[in-house]
Amino acid sequence: MIFPSPAVLQEVQLAILAARDLRLAVLRLDQRPAAHNGNKAYKLRPWRERLARGEGRGLISLGGAHSNHLHALAALGREEGFATVGLLRGEHCLTPTVEDLQANGMTLHWLGYGGYRRRHDSDFWQPWQARYPELLPIPEGGCDAQAAAACATIVTELRQGLAALGWPDCQQLWLAAGTGTTLAGVIRAADPAWQVVGGLAVPPGHGVEATLDRLLAQHTGVNWRLMDASRGGFGRLDAELARAMAEFEAQTGIALEPLYTGKLWLALRQAIEGGALAPGSRLVLVHSGGLQGRRALETQLAALAGG
Ligand SMILES: Cc1ncc(COP(=O)(O)O)c(C=O)c1O
Repeated sequence: MIFPSPAVLQEVQLAILAARDLRLAVLRLDQRPAAHNGNKAYKLRPWRERLARGEGRGLISLGGAHSNHLHALAALGREEGFATVGLLRGEHCLTPTVEDLQANGMTLHWLGYGGYRRRHDSDFWQPWQARYPELLPIPEGGCDAQAAAACATIVTELRQGLAALGWPDCQQLWLAAGTGTTLAGVIRAADPAWQVVGGLAVPPGHGVEATLDRLLAQHTGVNWRLMDASRGGFGRLDAELARAMAEFEAQTGIALEPLYTGKLWLALRQAIEGGALAPGSRLVLVHSGGLQGRRALETQLAALAGG
């Protein structure tokens, strides 16, 4: 167990659920502090363990100027006293996320857009490993088999949450997918009686399917599927999404962010409205955190929701 207590599984009341005799609970991974927020604590655990074994003195990784992954990494480095380096997409800009990275002592390098596009090249890491030989490199988004395996703990905590709520089981488990790492770990550990639905935060064909093929390999038995929740692009916001998030927050008191969990909720809401869920179903939506990244989007979201 990574945490002294499992994440809270909170049942929420929404008009759309009551009208269809559905129940929904939210797994609140978003309530944890920055270094452990959302799915990041699970995905970063293998690297923490490697540091604990003395395999390196810090961690280097990459992401955008709103990256939840870098945000958690920098906070963790500060909390646990190891060095962190962030390789950033694009040109220098000061977002709330970047301010936090700096405040947490992360060394930043801006790669431009062209430089960042080379991140999958076989020799990409060479100069960085020469420059920071004592740091372990984490691939973009923390996407790796051990990170996926660590996400099985989400399912352990979910089972504890179901028991605490008095739910015998759930019929569907909804989870956002960016690289598919967290989803792969959850599918591997899930109960065969549940259907796991991965809400794509990126359009189909942007790597999630390939990651799942690789990380799930021969794993069969769990009923899962992907759903395109991307709204046509990873960073694309629109009025319907902004309104769905605002409505969810107003009725449940739980804030979502637009890139992963907001899109996921909208996809689930559309499935409910479309009559895809049998009356009496118990549903779980994983709140995978990332609210820190929403700070830069508040004005845009408010304008879209009000427009
Ligand atoms: C808030 C949030 N939810 C979900 C995900 C998706 O995680 P994964 O990349 O493991 O699919 C991410 C990205 O890492 C994220 O930041």
